[in-house]
Amino acid sequence: RRPDCRWFSGAAENGGETHFGFETVSETEKASKVYKVFENVAQKSDVMNDAMSLGIHRLWKDALLHVMHPQPGARLLDVAGGTGDIAFRFLEYVRSQQERQQRRAVSLRQTPLWRDVSDRYPDGGGAPESAVVVCDINKEMLKVGRQRADSRGVTTGLSWVVGDAEELLFNDDQFVLYTIAFGIWNVTHIDQALKEALQVLKPGGRFLCLEFSKVTNPVLERLVTLWMSLKSVPSVQEEFKGLMEDSGFFCVQYFNLTGGVVALHSGFKL
Ligand SMILES: C[S@@+](CC[C@H](N)C(=O)[O-])C[C@H]1O[C@@H](n2cnc3c(N)ncnc32)[C@H](O)[C@@H]1O
Ligand SMILES: *[C@@H]1O[C@H](CO)[C@@H](O)[C@H](O)[C@H]1NC(C)=O
Ligand SMILES: *[C@@H]1O[C@H](CO)[C@@H](O)[C@H](O)[C@H]1NC(C)=O
Repeated sequence: RRPDCRWFSGAAENGGETHFGFETVSETEKASKVYKVFENVAQKSDVMNDAMSLGIHRLWKDALLHVMHPQPGARLLDVAGGTGDIAFRFLEYVRSQQERQQRRAVSLRQTPLWRDVSDRYPDGGGAPESAVVVCDINKEMLKVGRQRADSRGVTTGLSWVVGDAEELLFNDDQFVLYTIAFGIWNVTHIDQALKEALQVLKPGGRFLCLEFSKVTNPVLERLVTLWMSLKSVPSVQEEFKGLMEDSGFFCVQYFNLTGGVVALHSGFKL
């Protein structure tokens, strides 16, 4: 039984059997490298992000939110969330959705009295509170994120958790949304991370992954290219899509951004 993916904004094709060919570097070596790299750059991460993408990463992250289109009350887990770029955008997006809905409610009731509405929705909200959990393996990143939250005056709906994408310490069926932005290539066992994502998502929940379509490590890249041509897989995008389907996600699709420099993958837990 296959779901009708038209309900999930876009048709999904049936992916063939696929596996990722990335697990070539010694795993502990890779893990400790990842930690070192990001420990050193946590403080400069905004600068580095900007330099890496000439500032375009902001647009890619905006695109992620646009596709996600989160509604008030949604709970998001942002894995490899670093200093909170996705989290802040999420909270901002949800807040603007909420304001729009309140304005619409006011005009629908044809009452110009804001008070009537705020009676119904105490604290200017009343809708279930949205929340985002930022999870990252590096606590220095999270520390910087917390400071950013303080300086922006964000006090609610946001929490910071040290954790590994491969071993999430959350209960099952907790989140309606899961994101990982520019973090999946740093995960040692990508299939394991996908399995964990599937677990913590609620049925109907959505997984969204933003990532460079090129593997940045030149050695890995050579191996991946070689492996892909052996299997005649057309692109990293198709490859990752297949892996998501193998992991149990439904209605998997992806969007190429900036001519395919970056891809946004989407899939649902059903
Ligand atoms: C390039 S940064 C992206 C940060 C943020 N998502 C953004 O887009 O600005 C990659 C992040 O992945 C984190 N990371 C690497 N391996 C991880 C793992 N196994 N589990 C969780 N986070 C991980 C790093 O600490 C780093 O903060
Ligand atoms: C982690 O990923 C980023 C790009 O997303 C890359 O620049 C960096 O080299 C990676 N680090 C390791 C140790 O793989
Ligand atoms: C995305 O770009 C890749 C090349 O980078 C291409 O092979 C693929 O067909 C494109 N897919 C979509 C859905 O645009």
